[in-house]
Amino acid sequence: MNSNTSSSIYKDLDPAKLPSHVAIIMDGNGRWAKKRLFNRIKGHEKGSETVRTIVRACREIGISYLTLYAFSTENWQRPRSEVAALMTLLKKFLKSEQKEMLDNNIRLYAIGQIERLPEDVRQVLYKAMTLTKKNNGMLLVLALSYGGRAEIVRMVKEIAIKTKDGSIDPDSIAPEIISKHLYTSEIPDPDLLIRTSGEMRISNFLLWQIAYTEIYVTDTLWPDFGKNELVRILQDYQQRERRFGKVGN
Ligand code: IPE
Ligand code: IPE
Ligand code: MG
Repeated sequence: MNSNTSSSIYKDLDPAKLPSHVAIIMDGNGRWAKKRLFNRIKGHEKGSETVRTIVRACREIGISYLTLYAFSTENWQRPRSEVAALMTLLKKFLKSEQKEMLDNNIRLYAIGQIERLPEDVRQVLYKAMTLTKKNNGMLLVLALSYGGRAEIVRMVKEIAIKTKDGSIDPDSIAPEIISKHLYTSEIPDPDLLIRTSGEMRISNFLLWQIAYTEIYVTDTLWPDFGKNELVRILQDYQQRERRFGKVGN
């Protein structure tokens, strides 16, 4: 990626102290639209532009894993027209970003109940995942029809079946075994979780994985979020002391 134009805004970041995995709850599209007396869909459209900007910025900065909460299991309960618009936008995003991902060595991955997505969306998703599967510059993980509780239920069922058929000894069940049966089995836990639009809640995102994740909530609505604020949040992260329950330095 040609980062000459943006490298100056990244100069205050310590490359040795970057989070390996950044996860983002992209919230506030509806409020952004409401403030402007627009339809909520307009907010999602603007929000998808922010996704492009932030994916690019994370790749330029050198983040290894970026997980974006794009659609939750609960979001299916939104009005049908809004769900349909979100699916259309997702499909558009996957199509238009394919080249960008190939050019910039980004691998695409998805977590969640992918089988619930409309057939046409699943097709472009699988195509983009297959096309980018050899890329190793950054893993872009989209959480789609994702819910932390549903993920845990799925994990418990899988482990229950394996204990029944004898392939897992109940005594051997440990955190590592649990992690291996989640959607994120191949992905390290997030180091930093960002939520936009000021809500102080997790909304069913990565419940198991965020046990020791650093959290940053900004009041900025997702469509207004950008590179400069991302860099400020990363700088804030770099000042923190992660203790993991131990005593500090
Ligand atoms: C985030 O924005 C996008 C999705 C959850 C799909 P919202 O649509 O939740 O926006 P607000 O929270 O209503 O402002
Ligand atoms: C969380 O936002 C889900 C996504 C960003 C995809 P929501 O807007 O759905 O969460 P709540 O309803 O404010 O908790
Ligand atoms: Mg919301």
